[in-house]
Amino acid sequence: MTESSLSESPATLHVDLGERSYPIHIGSGVLGHVDSLAPYLAGRQVMIVTNQTVAPLYLERLRAGLPDGLEVREVVLPDGEHTKTLESVARIWDALLEAGFNRRCTLIALGGGVIGDMVGYAAACYQRGVAFIQVPTTLLSQVDSSVGGKTGVNHPRGKNMIGAFWQPRAVLIDTDTLATLPPRELSAGLAEVIKYGLIRDSAFLAWLEANLPALRAIDGAALREAILRSCSLKAKIVAEDETEQGVRALLNLGHTFGHAIESHQGYGKWLHGEAVGAGMLMAAELSRQLRWLTQADVSRVEALLQSAELPRFAPADMNLEDFLARMRLDKKNIDSRLRLVLLRALGEACIHDDTPPDMLEEMIVSFPRQ
Ligand code: NAD
Ligand code: GLY
Repeated sequence: MTESSLSESPATLHVDLGERSYPIHIGSGVLGHVDSLAPYLAGRQVMIVTNQTVAPLYLERLRAGLPDGLEVREVVLPDGEHTKTLESVARIWDALLEAGFNRRCTLIALGGGVIGDMVGYAAACYQRGVAFIQVPTTLLSQVDSSVGGKTGVNHPRGKNMIGAFWQPRAVLIDTDTLATLPPRELSAGLAEVIKYGLIRDSAFLAWLEANLPALRAIDGAALREAILRSCSLKAKIVAEDETEQGVRALLNLGHTFGHAIESHQGYGKWLHGEAVGAGMLMAAELSRQLRWLTQADVSRVEALLQSAELPRFAPADMNLEDFLARMRLDKKNIDSRLRLVLLRALGEACIHDDTPPDMLEEMIVSFPRQ
């Protein structure tokens, strides 16, 4: 992290959902400030949930940012996408019940998207719903998963198949936490950043083309700008369509193919952002075959992925049926009709439920393998 972000004061965005509206605070050092957390606590009982990787890095800093006089408990879960299960969520519920926490407790999710999704789901169900705060510490969770209230866990048959919409009370993004993020995880987060440009903002796409080297180098000012622009786009879309009846589905660009890759490979082998990266290129290629994108457009998408150091090929061991079987389970499908997010142009995504099956199958078969 360079000094440029350390001196900046936090920026605040808002997710506008009426009574359930909440702020997203983005800045350097927000984690350790009492003012960041205190306004969003429902009562005196606080359960911090994190994992074994993040706890030694940031748990103390978070605790230091809590006001005095609280009853604070912690749950430290094992790390990894394969732990995103109902069993892990049950450990959170067990800890809440053991501590005798009531409906005015607050859960704090400290970690990446895996922790955030599980803690949100635990909060949605505990005593039929308690408060929670997102403190995302990966780029992916800062630009995507912590905002918008999608919570849940994986099922062996499908990614994020068990879950609920449950909005946090606040999202606190401390950009300093990215300094410890492994480079592969940073790249995975960049996939979701690129996604926003592709679906809705061609100017942001051009900005990314110029700034990806700075983002890869963890330049504070560039990261702050990318997080702000991503969260701002996401906040608008969520405010328009909280429960994904329409426009929010566009946020799933690359995810139908990506989820198929993740679940076929075994959760955690391909990172979520990596699978989404390859999936976005597959969606771009299909959009080219529909004559919406040019070859030059597809090459631009490929170049963006390359400069983010993301995969541009599908797994070698995935055949057509491996893809199709998993894509049929996609949550966007209606009445077993496959619905894909495709690109009418760079910066303009659409939902398409009319892709000729032959064209889709031919694209999957001919898409380059690793
Ligand atoms: P993750 O939570 O597994 O975190 C990635 C790795 O980084 C983990 O090993 C974690 O312990 C470690 N880590 C976290 N913060 C760190 C830090 N500051 N320094 C060093 N290491 C750190 O993965 P992710 O990419 O954050 O999130 C992926 C998950 O998010 C997937 O399960 C995906 O389905 C979900 N997701 C949800 C939504 C949503 O809207 N709810 C959107 C996108 C993705
Ligand atoms: N990441 C997709 C969504 O939040 O809708």
